[in-house]
Amino acid sequence: MTTNQSWGGRFNQPMDEFVKTFGASVFFDKILAPYDIQGSVAHAKMLAEIGVLSAEEESKITAGLGKILDEIKADKFEWSPDLEDVHMNIEAKLVDMIGDAGKKLHTGRSRNDQVATDIRLYLRQQIDEIMNEIKHLQISLLYLAEAQVDTILPGFTHLQAAQPVSFGHHLMAYFEMLARDVQRLTDCRRRTNFMPLGAAALAGTNYPINRTRTAELLGFEGICNNSLDAVSDRDFAIEFLSAASIIMMHLSRFSEELILWSSAQFNFIELQDSVCTGSSIMPQKKNPDAAELVRGKSGRVYGNLTALLTIMKSQPLAYNKDNQEDKEPLFDTADTLKACLKVFADMVPAIQVNKKMMYKSAKKGHTTATDLADYLVKKGAAFRDAHAAVGKSVAYAIKQEKDLSELSLEELQKFDERIENDVVEILSLEGSISAKDHFGGTAPNQVKQAIQAARKTLK
Ligand code: ARG
Repeated sequence: MTTNQSWGGRFNQPMDEFVKTFGASVFFDKILAPYDIQGSVAHAKMLAEIGVLSAEEESKITAGLGKILDEIKADKFEWSPDLEDVHMNIEAKLVDMIGDAGKKLHTGRSRNDQVATDIRLYLRQQIDEIMNEIKHLQISLLYLAEAQVDTILPGFTHLQAAQPVSFGHHLMAYFEMLARDVQRLTDCRRRTNFMPLGAAALAGTNYPINRTRTAELLGFEGICNNSLDAVSDRDFAIEFLSAASIIMMHLSRFSEELILWSSAQFNFIELQDSVCTGSSIMPQKKNPDAAELVRGKSGRVYGNLTALLTIMKSQPLAYNKDNQEDKEPLFDTADTLKACLKVFADMVPAIQVNKKMMYKSAKKGHTTATDLADYLVKKGAAFRDAHAAVGKSVAYAIKQEKDLSELSLEELQKFDERIENDVVEILSLEGSISAKDHFGGTAPNQVKQAIQAARKTLK
């Protein structure tokens, strides 16, 4: 009869094959192997330092784990679902390789604090990689924004043409979102970077362990205060999933704009062929698939957040096997996020801007009407009166099938006699954006300064 060699002592019956497969996590948690080994090496070193392991045992363990890691990296390691998870696969192999010393590695430790440590180490690394990808995307945005400071497109509210804006300014809005995303991740990383090891199964351990030392060896900023919390808490992962969901929401909004802009109806941009696909039936089509996929994948990341919140919501303290379900949403989110950020960093430089179309479109919809109202206020009108007069002039322009900026001085003066020749500049797109000349405004010189300041934050 075979029972699990790690915990089979009190069992008389072998495990049902299907239940065994049902409970096994090795299929997906094997990606934790490098972190599991890193944690074990530090744990063994600490155990040797407090005299629980001999120096010889420790060096055998460390060497054995090193060989196992090499095998795993070379894809030569044989993973067995019979051994349930990544932790027991590695431990069993270590015992096979080095014998009795291997059996001592798990002293003063449980898989509960072990797995909690592994996922924190994993997540810390993922957050670093993700922040790096965000930085790449921010850099591509800066380059494009810099080249498009003087390009004018209609700014929208309610997807109705509202006021002209600099395209560089529009792009920098996404830079700002990403900058906050980095802040959120930095914050989440700080809370992730605490070490559960030492909590053992839930209550702590009877050995005189030195948790501070293990934490130092693993580069953790601190150690978890409470053993029950240490093994069962996954809120750091939920925080990550929520920061990831917000990033995906930002990328999805940007995707939506790229998709709209590259349609024949907008025609503001063309995405280079290298990031688009064709249609198998309609020969004329060039589809912005990558942007659509990012928009679609936001759903999957939100789903992962909901999954983990739900997994955690009714769990009594401390560890429950439910927690094993934290991994797939977590891994999937990190992979999805990295891929979406990468594809965006490719897509942004592939944006070819149709300045003429943007300009033409900004000319439609009387987008400088507010500038005219402000002009009248400067000439002494109250804003509400100015608003009403300009409203009438817009109605007139619509009747004439003209844009407000195309009305003659005589026509305009019918609505307010204070209007003079200098109104031409006021009603122009260039005049309109240059007038928003304050911190955070769309005036080209302000946008240039914003780009410069943004560049400094990346250094
Ligand atoms: N595979 C398990 C998980 O991911 C490891 C911890 C198992 N602990 C236990 N007491 N069964 O959560």
